[in-house]
Parts: sequence; structure tokens; C-alpha cells
Amino acid sequence: MLPTLAKPRVEIEIRRAFTRDLKDIMDIEEASFTSPWPRDVMVNEITANTFSEVTVALHGKKVVSFMICWVIDCERRLQNIATAPAWRSRGVARMMMNHLLDEAQRAATSVIILEVRELNREARALYSSLGFAQTGRRNGYYSDTGEDAIIMSLNIDGENSERRE
Ligand SMILES: CC(C)(COP(=O)(O)OP(=O)(O)OC[C@H]1O[C@@H](n2cnc3c(N)ncnc32)[C@H](O)[C@@H]1OP(=O)(O)O)[C@@H](O)C(=O)NCCC(=O)NCCS
Repeated sequence: MLPTLAKPRVEIEIRRAFTRDLKDIMDIEEASFTSPWPRDVMVNEITANTFSEVTVALHGKKVVSFMICWVIDCERRLQNIATAPAWRSRGVARMMMNHLLDEAQRAATSVIILEVRELNREARALYSSLGFAQTGRRNGYYSDTGEDAIIMSLNIDGENSERRE
């Protein structure tokens, strides 16, 4: 059975991305970031980068959110996550993150690490709500705005007490 969202209840499928998802992924990427990843980088993530796991959330055949994670030894590095603007605040990114936590626990990952812009209130609230804690800061890391990068980590040690569905 497919998981359903609380608000409103719609069916969402989560699976690995294929190249046929590229158009939808690029549309979301370009609508979400001031410096979007170029298409060829995204193709490389889906087809060639052996460290990379690209995951999509679909409603019907439409990709409504995607996530890119690099798996390096016992670490998972969340490189990118975005939800299509029309689908935001409906619990889709939380579903993706819970999927990531499930995968991490299954694969005996020890830690998930990510970087987030200091002023990205929505993303920081999402990560904090899942138990991620700030473990570092890179001053002026983002050259387009001069914003700092906040490094956040979550140790994976069995059950995650902060987790919400
Ligand atoms: C961050 C982002 C991925 C969240 O996606 P989403 O599908 O809207 O998120 P969800 O509906 O699953 O919300 C999950 C949590 O995120 C936080 N959040 C989401 N939207 C928020 C908002 N407008 N204000 C404050 N917190 C918000 C909340 O903690 C929320 O939990 P709650 O609903 O229990 O309060 C989305 O805003 C996005 O695509 N932003 C642009 C790309 C981006 O910044 N990616 C992160 C890069 S580090």
C-alpha cells in the first residue's frame, strides 16, 4: 500500500530516479534554487556517479519532490532536496527524509551530514524536527549571497526519537 499524506491525504510513491524523471527534476531544481545544478550534472548523478542515490516522490506519474544523497562508506551526505512549489507544506519532504532515515538504518549508516544556507528557515526547521543538530559552519560559503553554510548531522543509532510521520 502506498503511504498517504496527512494534509491533504494524497497518494505518494517514493522510488529511485530514472533518466525519464529528468525533466520534472530539472523543473523543480530551477524553481527552487538561485544557482540550480546544470542538467548535465543532474544526468551524471542519476546515471554515472556511483556514490549517488537520486530518489523521487511521485503523485501519479509526476515527480513532486526529489532528493540526492551520496553514500560514502558509513556516511550519507544529503546533497540536495527540493519539493515542487505547488506541492510544498504538504509533508512530501518529510516523507523523503523519513525514507532516507529508513535506508540509513537498513544500511548500517553511522551518520547523515548536510549543509544548509543559514537563512533557509524551512529546510532548517525540517532537519531540526528530525533530530539533526548543527555541527559546524562555513563562513561566506555561498558565493551568490555570501551566506554561511550551516553543517548539520544526525547520528544513526537504531531508533530515532525525534522522528515524526
Ligand atoms: C525545504 C523544502 C524541501 C521542504 O519541502 P516540503 O515538502 O514543503 O516540506 P514538508 O511539507 O514535508 O514540511 C516538513 C517540515 O519542514 C518545515 N517547513 C516546511 N515548510 C515550512 C515553512 N513554510 N515554514 C517553516 N517551516 C517549514 C517544517 O518543519 C515542516 O514540518 P511541519 O509541517 O510538521 O511543521 C522546500 O521548502 C523546498 O523545496 N525548498 C527549496 C529547496 C531547498 O531549499 N532545499 C533545501 C536545501 S538544503
